[in-house]
Amino acid sequence: MSQSFASRITGVGSAFPETRVTNTDLAKKLAKLGVDTNDSWIQERTGISERRFSDPENPAEHNSSLGFLAAQKALDMAGKTAKEIDQIIYATCSPDTLMPSTACWLQHKIKASRAWAMDINAACTGFIYGVATADQFVRTGAVKTALVVGGEVLHPLLNWEDRGSCILFGDGAGAAIVEQVPSDSPRRILSSHLLSDGSYCELFYIPAGGSNMETTPERYAQNLHKIKMNGKEIFKIAVRTLSDFAHRALKANQMTLDDLDWFVPHQANYRIIKAVAKRLKFPMDKILINLDRYGNTSAATIPTVLDEAVRDGRIKEGQTLLLDSFGAGLTYGSILLRW
Ligand code: ACO
Repeated sequence: MSQSFASRITGVGSAFPETRVTNTDLAKKLAKLGVDTNDSWIQERTGISERRFSDPENPAEHNSSLGFLAAQKALDMAGKTAKEIDQIIYATCSPDTLMPSTACWLQHKIKASRAWAMDINAACTGFIYGVATADQFVRTGAVKTALVVGGEVLHPLLNWEDRGSCILFGDGAGAAIVEQVPSDSPRRILSSHLLSDGSYCELFYIPAGGSNMETTPERYAQNLHKIKMNGKEIFKIAVRTLSDFAHRALKANQMTLDDLDWFVPHQANYRIIKAVAKRLKFPMDKILINLDRYGNTSAATIPTVLDEAVRDGRIKEGQTLLLDSFGAGLTYGSILLRW
């Protein structure tokens, strides 16, 4: 199909639950379960100081509700209304319900009556998969305005008896409006690169609760309905693939790291980000980070940190940004764009 259109992110927004949980708060909660951790270990090994946990009893803090708040802010920035949305893509691995999709719950809340809505589960790479998918629909002309949300309420899926994983994650949502622009527009999505490697499915997964393993009382007692993670292995792969996907994006656009104004990596662990910067020889002060305040919010990390930097003026019109992520699957992806 001929490509007479390109796409551009014209608005971003983010939303987090009210409840702030510091490392010390978390350590106190875990101590009651006989699990030992502390603020200095978490800060030193991950860079995280605190995260937000939503209140499951409060419908205003459900995943799709956080997505709704983020989407409204993104629409405002883009100068659009919900009625103008043609497509809703909700990237999440912690859906409101297994079915229907979180995208449909959001569609109902935001009253985007013209849109069609679907979820994408690429875990932490979800926002990049979502924007890349929207970009394809927009470029063919099938969609003029897409809403892409990366939203997670992960804390109900955490195994509080596993101190190596439960200290990492938080809840939140970020959104982007992806709009059609002429293909020669200087401000546009320049490229996307996606890949997954299913041979790593068991490095980060939830064994029970899907169709192949019902959550029985015995499995519940063993926490099989909670996240199981091989953190050490993921760490090594993440450093390698984030660097690789940065190079792929730059090479495809005949650019070098010097052409980048901002590197926007997935926020999983400060040490991963630092190791990637070292490998790429890229300055840390050109890397966007919000992991210290929100932890790993999976599909929400990239749109929330992007939103923060757009609103506080660090990201300026015409700058070149590289979004880069990895996630459960494992999934990988990068997007190069001119803001
Ligand atoms: N508090 C105190 N001590 C701890 C804690 C804790 N919370 N967690 C682990 N430890 C201990 C371990 O038991 C171990 O003790 P030992 O030496 O006596 O055995 C020691 O600390 C070191 O443990 P490691 O696992 O080697 O610690 P490491 O430095 O590798 O950090 C971590 C672990 C933080 C999980 C790191 O490997 C990591 O961030 N990996 C990447 C994980 C990731 O990104 N997951 C997201 C996947 S993406 C997605 O789709 C959601």
